[in-house]
Amino acid sequence: MARSFALFALVSTAPVVSSRCFPGDACWPTADTWSAFNVSLGGKLIANMPIAAVCHNSTFTPHDAAACTLPTNNSCNPFLDASAPCTMGNYPVYSVNATGAEDYQKTLAFAQEHNIRFVIRNTAADYNGKSSGAGSLALWTHHLKAKEMLDAYEFALAHDHVVVGANVPDIGLVGGYTQGAGTGPLGSRFGLGADQVLEWEAVLASGDFVVASPSSAEHADLYWALCGGGGGTYAAVLSATVKAHPPLGLSTANLTFALPVAVESPDAFWEAVRAFLQYSPAIGDAGAEAVWYAQGTAFNLATVFAPGFDKKTLDALMRPFLKTLDGLGLPYAYASEQHPGFLEGFLAQLATNVSNLNIGGRLIPRSLVESDGAAPLAAAIRNITSSGAIFSGVTFNVSSHAPESGVGANPYWREAVFSAVFGTFFDWTDWEANRRSADTITDDLVPQLELLTPGGAAYLNEYDFQQPDWETTLYGANWGKLSEVKMKYDPRGVFYALGAVESERWVEQHDGRLCGKA
Ligand SMILES: Cc1cc2nc3c(=O)[nH]c(=O)nc-3n(C[C@H](O)[C@H](O)[C@H](O)COP(=O)(O)OP(=O)(O)OC[C@H]3O[C@@H](n4cnc5c(N)ncnc54)[C@H](O)[C@@H]3O)c2cc1C
Ligand SMILES: *[C@@H]1O[C@H](CO)[C@@H](O)[C@H](O)[C@H]1NC(C)=O
Ligand SMILES: *[C@@H]1O[C@H](CO)[C@@H](O)[C@H](O)[C@H]1NC(C)=O
Ligand SMILES: *[C@@H]1O[C@H](CO)[C@@H](O)[C@H](O)[C@H]1NC(C)=O
Ligand SMILES: *[C@@H]1O[C@H](CO)[C@@H](O)[C@H](O)[C@H]1NC(C)=O
Ligand SMILES: *[C@@H]1O[C@H](CO)[C@@H](O)[C@H](O)[C@H]1NC(C)=O
Ligand SMILES: *[C@@H]1O[C@H](CO)[C@@H](O)[C@H](O)[C@H]1NC(C)=O
Ligand SMILES: *[C@@H]1O[C@H](CO)[C@@H](O)[C@H](O)[C@H]1NC(C)=O
Ligand SMILES: *[C@@H]1O[C@H](CO)[C@@H](O)[C@H](O)[C@H]1NC(C)=O
Repeated sequence: MARSFALFALVSTAPVVSSRCFPGDACWPTADTWSAFNVSLGGKLIANMPIAAVCHNSTFTPHDAAACTLPTNNSCNPFLDASAPCTMGNYPVYSVNATGAEDYQKTLAFAQEHNIRFVIRNTAADYNGKSSGAGSLALWTHHLKAKEMLDAYEFALAHDHVVVGANVPDIGLVGGYTQGAGTGPLGSRFGLGADQVLEWEAVLASGDFVVASPSSAEHADLYWALCGGGGGTYAAVLSATVKAHPPLGLSTANLTFALPVAVESPDAFWEAVRAFLQYSPAIGDAGAEAVWYAQGTAFNLATVFAPGFDKKTLDALMRPFLKTLDGLGLPYAYASEQHPGFLEGFLAQLATNVSNLNIGGRLIPRSLVESDGAAPLAAAIRNITSSGAIFSGVTFNVSSHAPESGVGANPYWREAVFSAVFGTFFDWTDWEANRRSADTITDDLVPQLELLTPGGAAYLNEYDFQQPDWETTLYGANWGKLSEVKMKYDPRGVFYALGAVESERWVEQHDGRLCGKA
């Protein structure tokens, strides 16, 4: 394939539109137009239907109670009566099952020609629906050579290497994960996912196919922005070439403790959590990563991933904290294991249970964990969980792994010691209850951590969708340069996603229609 070509040219003087065309509008393409588009794609166009359509009587498909499963927004909710309305809600109306650059180019061209909202959809794992959009045409990248995490881990190992990926196997590697920063079991050894990329292949809004690397004459800025500056913002990525590291072994550990029923005051429990927070930087500094949860008065250190450790070394790393628990008289369960290889050890871990939550998030700086023995932080976590929220942390040290060329990921990552995500489980039948708990997260819970981390940050893949000042919170000191890159490559806002750079130029109406701000 030619390194650079365009199937169409944009009329660059065309004005920025005020509003995207929406299903039902006169401008919406006719069935024949969609059909011709499908033919041009060799039949890869999919007319979407809500996953839960079978739960209802709708225009999509007849009601089929046996097949009724999962919801989207509240627009087609399987937990509500079959007579409740079933509409597309935030789902893209059509998807293109893309297999290469030409599909990308044709889809971008069609969306722009007809002024239709465009989204890029990979695994659709994004918490805040960045890969969805009402009335949109989706470029579905899932079947591309772009590999899923597990494929990538397996591929690397088959070639006697490891790559940096997520804590769970079902997150895409080249999509929102790496483009958004990317933490994982190898993070404290090798850095963020965004630190691993050597080169991106991408299709621009203009249709141009480009290769972006730190040394590319024209697109070093695009390379930089794609490395952690947010998915679905600057270009549609076809592939990423990432660093492969020599294989290394893996030991893992887990630990739970809870307040014994007979003990009335929870103080000993929270003293143990404080001690864990105070001890936790040692885990990242040693090259390990920890995934943990606190809910009520139960603490679950679900996994310590210790790449390159044998069991004895990992146990020695954890021993000082276990001694603290002994001293507090809190019963605990600790187990550790040395695995034959990285992938076996990785897959043996239980999947994290973090879906189905209204969430808020914050990056916690090392300075906070080190101040007053982490007591103010522990007190905030205690109060946050007292409202019924579950609080989780991913503890790491990625401070010294950024490539020399720099990356677009928020510089705050380098001073962070863990990424906090907390939230409350969805209520599947009472949507108003979800709104209230989302507002509690925004108005009461996130501010408690903001107060302790003024001028701080949140991970753009794991934050409260109502976060005020999200521009600086998510992108930090890189906001200005990221905005410049966005305006250079996509001045007309073809790529829109909630919380993406320059998305503040658009508003989503109640029905999901995207409108440009005057
Ligand atoms: C269960 C679970 C576990 C998680 N664990 C981790 C973890 O361990 N570490 C971590 O860092 N994060 C983790 N995350 C967060 C994860 O990184 C984000 O949800 C991320 O956005 C997923 O990216 P995706 O491409 O798979 O998903 P999608 O929702 O499909 O896409 C996310 C965003 O990236 C854009 N995008 C996708 N593909 C492309 C492309 N080819 N070109 C341009 N833009 C693209 C989309 O438009 C969208 O804006 C987890 C999330 C979940 C739900
Ligand atoms: C596109 O064409 C394929 C192959 O003919 C067909 O299976 C598919 O249903 C079509 N998609 C749409 C949206 O009509
Ligand atoms: C769905 O519609 C059909 C035809 O109108 C009707 O017979 C059936 O009872 C409806 N089912 C439900 C669950 O509402
Ligand atoms: C999402 O659900 C809410 C509540 O039911 C509804 O008012 C809103 O229109 C829905 N949004 C979309 C895009 O369907
Ligand atoms: C998408 O395309 C892939 C081949 O690239 C195919 O295996 C898959 O079934 C297609 N999915 C849908 C829903 O059409
Ligand atoms: C804790 O680790 C041990 C040893 O690896 C393992 O057998 C056990 O299943 C783990 N427990 C949980 C809850 O993951
Ligand atoms: C995840 O948590 C929810 C709420 O506590 C629970 O209902 C569900 O069973 C859990 N899922 C798994 C896989 O543990
Ligand atoms: C404790 O949390 C509640 C909300 O659950 C909040 O209203 C209150 O201000 C918090 N207290 C402190 C000291 O932050
Ligand atoms: C990370 O570890 C290095 C030592 O390897 C240390 O100097 C640095 O302060 C640590 N950074 C964070 C944020 O924990």
